[in-house]
Amino acid sequence: MVDTLAIICHFGDQNVTDFCPTRKKNPIGHTCQKACTKDLDCPKKKLKCLCDGECGLSCVTPRSSCPWPVILENANISLKQETWNFGDQMLVRCHPGFKMANGLEMAQSRCQGDKKWSVTAPCDVISTCNDPPNIENGYFVKSEHHMEGALVEYKCNAGYRLEGPVFTTCMENKTWSDNAPTCEKIYCPPPPEIKEGILVAVKKTEYKVSEVIYYMCKRNFLMDGSHSVTCMSNGTWSDGPACRARCKVPVQRSQVIYQGRKVWVTEIEEGLVHHSDNVEFFCKNTTRACSYTASSQCFDGALEPPECYKEPTWVEYTFFSKNLVSEISSCQEL
Ligand SMILES: *[C@@H]1O[C@H](CO)[C@@H](O)[C@H](O)[C@H]1NC(C)=O
Ligand SMILES: *[C@@H]1O[C@H](CO)[C@@H](O)[C@H](O)[C@H]1NC(C)=O
Ligand SMILES: *[C@@H]1O[C@H](CO)[C@@H](O)[C@H](O)[C@H]1NC(C)=O
Ligand SMILES: *[C@@H]1O[C@H](CO)[C@@H](O)[C@H](O)[C@H]1NC(C)=O
Repeated sequence: MVDTLAIICHFGDQNVTDFCPTRKKNPIGHTCQKACTKDLDCPKKKLKCLCDGECGLSCVTPRSSCPWPVILENANISLKQETWNFGDQMLVRCHPGFKMANGLEMAQSRCQGDKKWSVTAPCDVISTCNDPPNIENGYFVKSEHHMEGALVEYKCNAGYRLEGPVFTTCMENKTWSDNAPTCEKIYCPPPPEIKEGILVAVKKTEYKVSEVIYYMCKRNFLMDGSHSVTCMSNGTWSDGPACRARCKVPVQRSQVIYQGRKVWVTEIEEGLVHHSDNVEFFCKNTTRACSYTASSQCFDGALEPPECYKEPTWVEYTFFSKNLVSEISSCQEL
């Protein structure tokens, strides 16, 4: 049956007798007619010497027909032409999940000289695998039948990490291609140290998913960002805070505006302002001899005075304090 598919010979075509195979001894599923080399060899006039597949050149009735319609379970059948006579072809296509004994899902069948189709093999269910092994703290994505070639995906429960192959395939011999993976509990390492920060927690070597750890900043440092970190489901910590330093006001002999008040720097506690605080400095409009303010922000210990600011000299500060830029009238008042 299988071999007939490979035959080069064109059934019923008298001009290709050169390509017709010599008669096989016992072709399976094919009863051979009288062998011949030319029409005259045939006993009756209506018989012609034609190529009949594995039977080779044989005396056949050119208009003889094969049974039609053909019903094959689990298969679709279609004719290649509109007739089902000697040499005509039909296509046998197995339904999805089925295949023939020879492993093919599709075969070309020819109407033989014995009035039978060359292929009438049934389509059988493709072999299926049993469920792959269950795993602890995880599962596989279920499908109804694990047919040959079926791909199954393993997943782990939340808080577990998959180790090993994610997929396994149902093989022809009804076994799975890969060993089942394992699901390992996810832990976070100790949370990161933060500069100038303190961890408010009992130190451990590993932390569970969704565990929360709090930070504090050392005195005079301001917390920037979230005050806690969470152990995330992938074993890493969420973003933690930064502890920001206070800034020294870089001015000695001027007043500045800080927290809404005009003050000498000596009046500011320790001469330090908090991270992210704004300080306004006095600058001089020389053309109009008046003062205006320009502000600068403290960022983690760094506070740059604005470019227009000029530090008065000791002489200016000591002997001409009324003329200091921070003391002259504001441009807005003029
Ligand atoms: C079989 O035929 C039906 C109806 O014509 C069609 O829907 C289906 O896709 C065919 N199946 C195959 C495997 O060819
Ligand atoms: C099934 O086939 C695979 C791959 O060809 C092979 O490694 C395995 O040993 C076979 N299992 C059985 C039970 O035959
Ligand atoms: C862990 O998960 C978080 C949030 O989903 C993500 O931002 C981060 O990049 C992940 N880290 C790694 C190492 O996968
Ligand atoms: C000084 O004031 C004048 C007039 O208002 C203005 O045009 C000029 O830009 C000011 N200069 C500075 C440095 O602010």
